[in-house]
Amino acid sequence: MCRIFAACLKDGKVSPILKTGLKRLEYGGYDSAGMATIDNGNLEIKKGVGKIDEVDRIVNFESLNGNIGIAHNRWATHGYPSITNAHPLTDCTGEIAVVHNGVIENFLELKEELIKNGHEIKSRTDTEVVAHLVEEEVKKGNDLVKACLKAIKRVEGSYALAIIYSKEPDKIVLIRKESPLYLGIGKDGNFASSDPVAFVDKTNLMIPLEDYELAVITPYYYKIYSIKDEKEILRNPVEIDIKPQMIEKGGYPHYMLKEIFEQPISLYYAINVQRLYLNAIAEPMSRSKVNFLIGAGTSYHSCLAGSYMYSKISGLATIPVVASEFIQQYGNTLDPDTSLLLVSQSGETADVLKVASYARMKASTVMSITNVVSSTITRLSRLYLVQQAGPEIGVAATKTYTSQLLIHLLLALEIGKKREKINENEYNEYYTKIRSIPKAAEFVLKSTDQKAKQAAEMLKDYTHIFYLGRGINTATAFEGRLKMLEIAYIPSSAFSAGESKHGPIALIEKNTPVIFIAPKDESRKVILGNIMEIKSRGGKIITLGTNDDRELKEVSDFYIDMPEADELITPILYILPLQLIAYYTAVLKGLDPDKPRNLAKSVTVE
Ligand code: G6P
Repeated sequence: MCRIFAACLKDGKVSPILKTGLKRLEYGGYDSAGMATIDNGNLEIKKGVGKIDEVDRIVNFESLNGNIGIAHNRWATHGYPSITNAHPLTDCTGEIAVVHNGVIENFLELKEELIKNGHEIKSRTDTEVVAHLVEEEVKKGNDLVKACLKAIKRVEGSYALAIIYSKEPDKIVLIRKESPLYLGIGKDGNFASSDPVAFVDKTNLMIPLEDYELAVITPYYYKIYSIKDEKEILRNPVEIDIKPQMIEKGGYPHYMLKEIFEQPISLYYAINVQRLYLNAIAEPMSRSKVNFLIGAGTSYHSCLAGSYMYSKISGLATIPVVASEFIQQYGNTLDPDTSLLLVSQSGETADVLKVASYARMKASTVMSITNVVSSTITRLSRLYLVQQAGPEIGVAATKTYTSQLLIHLLLALEIGKKREKINENEYNEYYTKIRSIPKAAEFVLKSTDQKAKQAAEMLKDYTHIFYLGRGINTATAFEGRLKMLEIAYIPSSAFSAGESKHGPIALIEKNTPVIFIAPKDESRKVILGNIMEIKSRGGKIITLGTNDDRELKEVSDFYIDMPEADELITPILYILPLQLIAYYTAVLKGLDPDKPRNLAKSVTVE
C-alpha cells in the first residue's frame, strides 16, 4: 500500500534524502508521490501523479528547501490518483501537512462534521480529515503533540501517519495503529518510515512503534507517548538487520531478477534458521488437534505446498487457507487445541494480522513465518521464525517463496521426528538432501535461464496460458500462473492436472499453450495421460521435467530440462524457471516487472 517517510536533520537540506527514501519505498505504492518541507517557517509542498521519477521530472523535489520534511508514495484506496488526492494533504490554513498509510474508516462522518464547522475539504481521500482535526485542536491552543494526541482519538481505522506544522518547524509527529511505522535514530538527525529501508543508509538504529503510540522526532531527540493515557513511554533503539548494499540492484536491471538469482543464498540462510525455533514451533503443531496454514498470495501457495510436506513426512494433516477467507470459513471452529501457522513475507498483510488477532482471542496457538524481523506479525505470534531471505523489493515475491517452502520442509522434518514418523537416519538423509538445495537452485537458474528467455519469446503474444501440475506441484502451477499474470498481464489459469478434464480442457484449441510441471514423482505416470489428453486436442505442450525423461520430451513441443530431486524439494526448484519465464515475458512486453500495475508489495488494508 502507501509508504511514508519523514526526516529531520540537524543541518542541511532534507529533500534529496526524502527522494532517495521514497525511491526505495516505491515497491509499496506508486500511483502518486509527494513531499512537504518546512523552509523558514513556511510549509512547501510538491506532488503529482505517477511514479516518483515521473513526478520528480515535473516538480523537481530537490527544489524544496528546509531541514525537515515528510514524503509519501501512494497506492490509492480512497479517491482516484490525482494531484489533489496525492499526499501530503493539508488543513485549511496550509500550515499542517499529513502523510498516511492505512484506511480511515469513519472519514465520511468526520468529513461531514468538519464541513459543518466551516472546514473546506479539498481532496476525496480519507486522510485529509486528519489535517483538519489537528487544525481544530491547535486552534484551541494545543501544541502539535497535544493536538495530535487529541485528534487521533476521533479517528477509527488503520494508520501510520506523519504530521508537520509550520509554526513548530522542528517537529514531526508520527502515529501508528495497524500500519507499520519505524523511527530511525541517527547522529545527524532522526527519521521515521513505514519501512526501515528508507533510512538504512543514515542510521543502523531503529525503534518499531506499536499500535496506539504517538512519537515526536526533532533533529536532536525523540519521544514516544501512549495515545490512550498520553504518558511517555521509554524505549531504546535496536539495531537494524539490513545493510545498505542489500537494497541496491547489484547490477541487475530489475530487483525481481536480482532476487530470483539471489535464491541460492536466501535458501542457504533458510536452511540455517535456528533449530531451537523450528523445534519450538514443531511442538504445538505436533500436539494440536487441528493445524491451519494461512497466508495470502504467494505465501498462501507456500502453505498449499507445505500441507503436502507435513502430510508426507510427518503424517500431520494441515489445512491451508487463504487469509481473507479464514475467519468466515473456520473462525468458529477455533479453540485452544488449534494451532495456526501464519505465513507472511512482510508480516504486515492486513488479512493475516486480522486472523492472528482473532485466533488469539479464541486462545488458539498463533505462530508465524515472516521475512521481516520487527513486523507486526511477530508481535502477535506466540512463536515466530524469520526467513532471513534479505529485503525483497520486487513486488512479485520470488526468493521469499522458495525460502518459505524450505522452512515448511524443515518444520515437517522436526514434526516427523517428534511424531516418530521418521527415524534418525531418515531425518539425517533428508537433511543431506536439503543442504544440497542451494547448489541445485544455482544450477537450475543457470541451466534454464536461456530456455526461459525462449519460452518468454514464444508465450508473450498469447492471450491465455494454462499451468498444470499434480500433487505438491499443484502449488507450483498456482504460483507460476500468479507470477505470469501479475507481472506480464497474461490471463492464466492453474489447476491440479487431474482437474483438467473437469472443465479447463473445454478451452483447449490448436496451439493453446499449456505448461506442465512434471518431475519424476509418484504422479509422473498420470500426468503423462493428462498431457496426451491436451496434446490430442491441439494444445501446445511446454514441459518442465527431468533431463532423462525421454517419453515426456517426445510428447512436448518445448521442454525444460530439470535435475532429478526428491519429490518434496521439486517445488523449490521447479518454480525457478517459471519465475524467469514470467520475468522475461514482462520485459519483452515492455513492462516493469518490479512495479506491476495496481499491485502493492504488502497489502496493509483488508
Ligand atoms: C501482495 C504481494 C504478493 C504477496 C502477498 C502476501 O499481494 O503482491 O507478492 O504474496 O501480498 O504478502 P505477505 O507479505 O503477507 O507474504
